[in-house]
Amino acid sequence: MDLILKGGWIVNENGRERADIAIAGETVAAIAAPGALDDLSAAETVDVTGLHLVPGAIDMHVHFREPGYTHKEDWETGTRAAAMGGVTTVFEMPNTHPPTRSVKELRQKQDCAKKACVDFGIYGLMAEDNVDELEALAAAGANAFKCFMGNTFGNLPSPSTGAMLEGFEIAAKTGLRVSLHAETASIMAWRQAKLEAAGLDEPLHHIAARPEIVAIEAVARAAALAEWTGARIHVLHISSAGELRPLAEAKARGVDVTGETCPCYLFLSTEDYPRLGSVIRVNPPVREPKDAAGIWDALMSGVVDMIATDHAPHTPEEKRNPRIWDADCGFPGVETQMPLMLTEVAAGRMTLEHYVKISSANPARAFGMWPMKGRIAVGAHADIACLDLARREVIAAERLHSRGKITPFEGRETVGAPIHTLVRGAFVQRDRKMVEGMAGHGRQVTDIQRMPAPAPRNEDQSLAAILSGAAGTAAAPKAEDAA
Ligand code: NCD
Ligand code: ZN
Repeated sequence: MDLILKGGWIVNENGRERADIAIAGETVAAIAAPGALDDLSAAETVDVTGLHLVPGAIDMHVHFREPGYTHKEDWETGTRAAAMGGVTTVFEMPNTHPPTRSVKELRQKQDCAKKACVDFGIYGLMAEDNVDELEALAAAGANAFKCFMGNTFGNLPSPSTGAMLEGFEIAAKTGLRVSLHAETASIMAWRQAKLEAAGLDEPLHHIAARPEIVAIEAVARAAALAEWTGARIHVLHISSAGELRPLAEAKARGVDVTGETCPCYLFLSTEDYPRLGSVIRVNPPVREPKDAAGIWDALMSGVVDMIATDHAPHTPEEKRNPRIWDADCGFPGVETQMPLMLTEVAAGRMTLEHYVKISSANPARAFGMWPMKGRIAVGAHADIACLDLARREVIAAERLHSRGKITPFEGRETVGAPIHTLVRGAFVQRDRKMVEGMAGHGRQVTDIQRMPAPAPRNEDQSLAAILSGAAGTAAAPKAEDAA
């Protein structure tokens, strides 16, 4: 054995046990009653008495900014922040410069990611002008697709519904899930132009430009396209109570749709805008207290499947702009998600098992990494966060490992933190400090991801079928039928 972790509590989504763990290479080799592994020889034994060992968090939504915006973040700083936050796998977004829109840019991003110290997936962009690249992106190892239905940082143009439908037809064939920035661009552009023309530029006007109908409309439309094509979809950063209804209805109809929310939508609200000013600006916006309450309920009931962070660092100058329309949207989160959520576990709001489900097991299943990730079990990757559930810390920019540090959670006290983080059997964070020399340990999850194509729906009416002449009569009458 390479490593034995002795004396801790092992917590999975369905329960906990006091047990020792033996790790051989990258995977868990044995889990046994306390003391039962004492006769095994191991290169190292670490006493984790008093700690709770959970599967490392899997964050489906981070922006690591490289290539193109490395003054905000890069793959090394971003994955160091992840390691400090107990996050062992991240999926990274394509709104870099250049955007990850074809195999060429995917290769460029894989090159940047060679510095990663935690495991990762890479999103390929699904846009208006790269529909013809999607199959090649999937074949070249993109782990999922990202579709910006609404404009946000990077200003990538949103695809028309026509392009989205064809994109979904192609995505369904690849099996990969399509993650959606579900806000409708045309509504927002229309309203922001009118607000700006009227000289309205206060922080709360950001919500006025993006009322919850933008999310309700986008989720409902995306769900209809997914239902029609059979494509799997994922609703990113759920911000409103309103969009929970089309999400729940789509699930009830059997659409393969998952949803995530982020700490800012659970812990912040309109009440924080006066205090935080432009720092709180994020897309979609932080909304009313009733929205936070509705999202909490949905996270507990399973309508919202997982917690992610939308880790989106910017510089202080980019964030602190007097005109709200000029302040960059988003803030870092990959390092603070776990302490923030564990604080709620300490307060009795959710069990640690439920936290494991929403932070690790559900994302692993939705994106095809189960059974190698998302659980602590024999044969699975030894991706483990060792938690001190009583540890008190205060979130402070100066202690964050991201390059862009400015956070709306500055000064917040948290209870519970990852003391060590292991990625495939190796410590990347130990005793609340980075383990140096681990850049390059992180690996793309392509080798363990299993996303078989879903059952086809309305395939005979897809553009590919019609244009290749394979479509049935209903979609494209043949000459002899017409005669
Ligand atoms: C993100 C960013 O800065 O890349 N910003 C944000 O406000 N959430 C983009 C995004 O996820 O919308
Ligand atoms: Zn987004």
